[in-house]
Amino acid sequence: MRARSEGGPDDVDRGGATTTSEEYDTGRAVLLAAVAAIGGFLFGFDTAVINGAVEAIRADFAIGAGLTGFTVSSALIGCAAGAWVAGQLAGRFGRVRVMLLASAFFTISAVGSGLAQGPWDLVVWRVVGGLAVGAASVIAPAYIAEISPASIRGRLGSLQQLAIVTGIFLALLSDYFIATAAGGAGEELWLGLEAWRWMFLTEVVPAVAYGVLALQIPESPRFLVARGEHQQARSVLAQVLRSGVDERLREIRRTVAADARSTVADLRGPFLGLLPIVWVGIGLSLFQQFVGINVIFYYSSSLWQQVGFSEADALVQTVITSVTNIAVTVVAIAMIDRVGRRRLLLVGSAGMAVSLAALAVAFATAPLVDGEPALEGAAGPVALVAANLFVVFFGVSWGPAVWVLLGEMFNNRIRAAALGLAAAAQWAGNFLISTTFPALAEVGLGLAYGLYTAFAALSFVFVLRWVPETRGRQLEDME
Ligand code: GLC
Repeated sequence: MRARSEGGPDDVDRGGATTTSEEYDTGRAVLLAAVAAIGGFLFGFDTAVINGAVEAIRADFAIGAGLTGFTVSSALIGCAAGAWVAGQLAGRFGRVRVMLLASAFFTISAVGSGLAQGPWDLVVWRVVGGLAVGAASVIAPAYIAEISPASIRGRLGSLQQLAIVTGIFLALLSDYFIATAAGGAGEELWLGLEAWRWMFLTEVVPAVAYGVLALQIPESPRFLVARGEHQQARSVLAQVLRSGVDERLREIRRTVAADARSTVADLRGPFLGLLPIVWVGIGLSLFQQFVGINVIFYYSSSLWQQVGFSEADALVQTVITSVTNIAVTVVAIAMIDRVGRRRLLLVGSAGMAVSLAALAVAFATAPLVDGEPALEGAAGPVALVAANLFVVFFGVSWGPAVWVLLGEMFNNRIRAAALGLAAAAQWAGNFLISTTFPALAEVGLGLAYGLYTAFAALSFVFVLRWVPETRGRQLEDME
């Protein structure tokens, strides 16, 4: 398929950079981006798959709430480490090699978790899986941004978020079918192994597919230039671009000094030891987590039960929420290269602040029955609608746009290392929010959601003041 980007040569982007018209092969670009996005699929799948297994694991290994919680949250520590290390490795050894490494770790972790003999064994394999998730969270945005034509880079980058939320959804679904087939997550299914073990083992299929497909795609042209392999870089660019290949190559060479591979030292700058743009990336990451999105995803069944659903209906509601998340990501894909990243983020922040505030008020004003808030009258439906609206506003804005921006906002020289650091901060933020939620909820759910409301409001100011518009700009123009 052939396509031509919208706009002519004198199209001037509001961000200040000129968008030149490019001709490109849409099919090829989508294919390359889709392979990289399988990493996102595994990221979503791996983080969500434990949901259906956790109660059976607790019973099988006869462990308490503390250790059970740790088998879940320990993976997030692996994610932070994996993101940080992957940023370094991608700068030195290339983007595709990191994908292969992540695929191997995903596979080992799936087998190890499925066959774990005790809780600590499981913790180790979950951390190994976390390392892979962290690596995938860095490598997909970087690779996609680096092979994309500028005018559709937002859409292709959003494929990462689409893959993440699809992975979350399919993990829930696969857990459900496996548990149903066995008559319970703790019952034996095949080969004398309990259903919960098969939930993990299933992940071997996409994990291996990721590695096999990654072997078929070329290395990123920006990395090849950094290695001095200009001819190879040219031929990769020519796979996607139908015009302006030499001009693009020249521009990349201008911004990447030969053999200048991205390292931590390149991130040093005048502002609290780092370059200001690196702080903006860290800020985007932290705000994306501090609005509490994963509290909805990780603790959804208790939320829906507080809203008034039975346990079975709560599960249905969880499925509805994740399908909604997929649907709104598609909306984001349609809009991100047209309206721009900043506008999406601003609308998202405002919408999240309002819906979170409604949730906070509903819970803060609810009377306590046996120590649990009981939403009476209109409060139940209000909370239900507010929680789903929150997911809609997040999914159309901060969910995809942050991954897109992290892939494209840094210049060629610092991209890998900066993205690794920002993504590590995101996983640390995720860990902080999801491990403090139970304690906060005990003090009061109104307080917990009130806090997330405040972060959503602050995120609006943050975007307005510090986040640059990158729509349509070439990676070589990011300074
Ligand atoms: C984003 C977040 C991730 C979250 C997901 C939910 O990808 O980074 O933490 O689980 O959105 O949609």
